[in-house]
Amino acid sequence: MKETQKKRGKAKKSTAVVASPNNAIVKRSASIPARQEKGKFSEEKGVYCVRNIALAESGRELIAWAESRMPVLMSLRKEMRKTKPLKGIRIAGCLHVTKETAVLIRAFQDAGAIVSWSGCNPLSTNDAVSAALAEDGISIYAWYGCSVPDFYWSIERTLDMKPHLTLDDGCDLINTVHEKYADLVGEYIFGGTEETTTGVHRLRSRAAQGKLLYPVYAVNDAETKWDFDNVYGTGQSTLDGIIRATSVMLAGKNFVVAGYGHCGSGVAKRAAGMGASVIATEIKPTAALKATLEGHRVMTMDEAASVGDIFCTATGVKDIIRKRHFEAMKDGAIVCNTGHYDAEININELAALAKSRRTIRPNCEEFVLKGGKRIYLLAEGRLVNLAAAEGHPSEVMDMSFANQFMAHLRLVQAKKQGITLPNEVLDLPVEQDQFIATVKLKSMGLNLDELTPDQLAYINDYSHGT
Ligand code: ADE
Repeated sequence: MKETQKKRGKAKKSTAVVASPNNAIVKRSASIPARQEKGKFSEEKGVYCVRNIALAESGRELIAWAESRMPVLMSLRKEMRKTKPLKGIRIAGCLHVTKETAVLIRAFQDAGAIVSWSGCNPLSTNDAVSAALAEDGISIYAWYGCSVPDFYWSIERTLDMKPHLTLDDGCDLINTVHEKYADLVGEYIFGGTEETTTGVHRLRSRAAQGKLLYPVYAVNDAETKWDFDNVYGTGQSTLDGIIRATSVMLAGKNFVVAGYGHCGSGVAKRAAGMGASVIATEIKPTAALKATLEGHRVMTMDEAASVGDIFCTATGVKDIIRKRHFEAMKDGAIVCNTGHYDAEININELAALAKSRRTIRPNCEEFVLKGGKRIYLLAEGRLVNLAAAEGHPSEVMDMSFANQFMAHLRLVQAKKQGITLPNEVLDLPVEQDQFIATVKLKSMGLNLDELTPDQLAYINDYSHGT
């Protein structure tokens, strides 16, 4: 028996994987492991498990709204519907189940792929969207508020169909493949993509140790992804989440943003735009310098802890806000995270300092510390923009998901042409960025200047001077 099979227990009965008429995966096996949560679900074993299928119609309305605001992906979808370049390809996806993700899933389906999906965070699934996808024949395992064991149970169910490609946001799917299902690599899986900064970091450390088993495109690193989604998407959706969870006024508040990378700088930009006074904390000198020149104060977290009214972490690092910071905070301080994992705020240390904790409104938990001071934690320290709001707006996800879609086309094209890509974290070509940006601009009715032949000659002539 192979090592990977041993890890997941007894070797499974082999299962026939077939596409049903509506393109869902029907797994012809009775041996599906049990989910942890026993509550009420809408479920068809081997095909989907969602919270409540009755929400499907409202989910379809949300998806239609997203479709009307995602012109780049919609134009690719229209084109690929005719040629079906992904015919016969099975894709397992692990990415926030939002209305925008539904548009991506439908694009894959239109291009001929068979898809099975799970959420990539226990608090980011839109239950109406997952119901709509399930009812429309997509194999999907995702519901808001799922437990951590069920989160991984859902990921594993998407692997039951033996995918050819993986699409990840945060690296949990790829890690699951590497740790428990490595026997699928080669025979079935031949490539993947990764959506987010955190996931790309993890992949790069795996690849650096020579432990990456298949090529993965770093979608996050495409310019039309990180320079838009990470900055403007995170900026807007994080503020949206904080406001929905608290309804606090931002003007006049000291807003501490931990990490001044693309995401943190986007959050800072929008918080400042709403009248907050931004304090950035950093470990990187150039990022700190940038924050200063962009008009923000720079402090250590120890200095900022007693000054801040609202704290938002965007670092990808654990324990950014911990015991001594909570102890120094003002009464009423609000703490949240917009990074991929819930490790940035040490909630155990906050809980240990508290004499009581209770949820006072959706996604807002009050901790009363032993001296009577109150600290408010949003969305259980999970990414506030998806847990308490709807994630990034459709308009920006349009470009991120056009990149995802095109990266998968690229993987399949290479395979068909017999090109073996290295087992590395791969960059997407700049031509893809230029294509996506061009289509996006066109959809917005914006035109570009063109260089005259004379101007072209001028910029290429190294001999010009004053
Ligand atoms: N990540 C951030 N916002 C998102 C969205 N709207 N859909 C999917 N993934 C996201």
